[in-house]
Amino acid sequence: MADNQRGFSSSIGAILAAAGGAVGLGNVWRFPYMLGNNGGGAFLTIYIVFVILIGIPLMMTEFVIGRRSQSNVVGAYRKLGGRHKGWVSLGILGIVAALLIYAFYSVVAGWTLNYIVLSSSGQTSGLLPHEVATVFKDFSQGSLWPLVYQFIFLALTALVVTMGVQKGIEKVSKVLMPLLFILLLVMCVRSLSLDGAAKGLEFLFKPDFSKMTGKGVLEALGQSFFSLSLGMGAMVTYGSYIRKEDKLLKTSTWIAVCDSMVAILAGIVIFPAVFAFGMDPASGPELVYIVLPNVFNSMPMGNIFAIVFFVLLGIAALTSTISLLEILVAFAVEELHWKRGVASAVSSAVVFAIGAFCALSFGPLKEATIFGKTLFDLFDMLTASYIMPIGALLMTIFLGWFYPKAEVRDEITNGGTLKARLFGAYYFLIRYIAPVALIIIIIYGIIG
Ligand code: PHE
Repeated sequence: MADNQRGFSSSIGAILAAAGGAVGLGNVWRFPYMLGNNGGGAFLTIYIVFVILIGIPLMMTEFVIGRRSQSNVVGAYRKLGGRHKGWVSLGILGIVAALLIYAFYSVVAGWTLNYIVLSSSGQTSGLLPHEVATVFKDFSQGSLWPLVYQFIFLALTALVVTMGVQKGIEKVSKVLMPLLFILLLVMCVRSLSLDGAAKGLEFLFKPDFSKMTGKGVLEALGQSFFSLSLGMGAMVTYGSYIRKEDKLLKTSTWIAVCDSMVAILAGIVIFPAVFAFGMDPASGPELVYIVLPNVFNSMPMGNIFAIVFFVLLGIAALTSTISLLEILVAFAVEELHWKRGVASAVSSAVVFAIGAFCALSFGPLKEATIFGKTLFDLFDMLTASYIMPIGALLMTIFLGWFYPKAEVRDEITNGGTLKARLFGAYYFLIRYIAPVALIIIIIYGIIG
């Protein structure tokens, strides 16, 4: 993309587009199942601490790297790293992470399309809870439809990205993100009035730290990075589109607040229902797809709500897949000099070639495990629990120790024209606190 086309048109556009990239299946699908697997409230508490202490400063760091360099994730380290070429490998790690995430994420995004079809044709309404579960299993374990829907989702994303994202996505995000939020609020009201809701709320909000393990803490960190799209280059890429006069702390804080609110709302919808319908909160990736149809079935006009909800969820997923593809396309266009259309078609084809194996992980390839995990689970864990935290650690070392402090300040204050009263605190966090915390959590997570 030529530099003159680079850029969001306004601060609010930048916030909404980046928040659109952040808010997605990570909030509504991944967050509840991670929390369910890790005992509930304690996970939420640690998650929020990570968002505030590491997530927001790290997002600023990525914005600084992107906006300073005006580049894709590989070009950013090539430019800012100067003669220290080794930093480019951090950019390449970002490209690899984008490929892996997109490969399994597009599977779940495809599931959303299936649920739009099912709910519009009334196929999930009036079913008993165990029948709802069977519908999901029959679909996800198949060897055709999960691939078809994944393909459609990849194609849809490629289409939008080829057309040029900024205007389309800025506009779409502005209308649809608030709508998703409102719908989640409506569903909260319903879920909270189910019999047994209190148990769900207790599970979500009452921390019991005795249930927390080292692995759980690492997963909470991984979830905060996954949800905020950190540690791999999505926010470096989007950061390069933010206007110089925008305040990066304000932008990052808004994105983190929106993102966390959506995750918590999703939790308030899902956990009361999990307990009301006698389900296991630790049922893994299918949790949301089995719980939500039950919530809709218990609501008046539930079917209409179901259609609207899955359409919005699909759109939330789309604004995220767009940001994933944009990382790859910006790289291919700027570094390899491919045309935008070719770049998005080729990247999507590569993702499909890898992602098809993830789509089949629930059925035909269920037994094909590596380290005891299916390819889907492996990519999910590898990216969120390892690549993103390690990528984040290297980014803080890059900006906190390698790149000159004066340059960082210059970027954040836009050459001294913006006030940045918290600069000292920010710099201290990324230079000392974040790297040390990341090293401890990564090691502690690996050993226990
Ligand atoms: N943050 C997105 C979500 O929560 C997922 C994502 C991760 C998107 C990394 C881009 C990069 O759904």
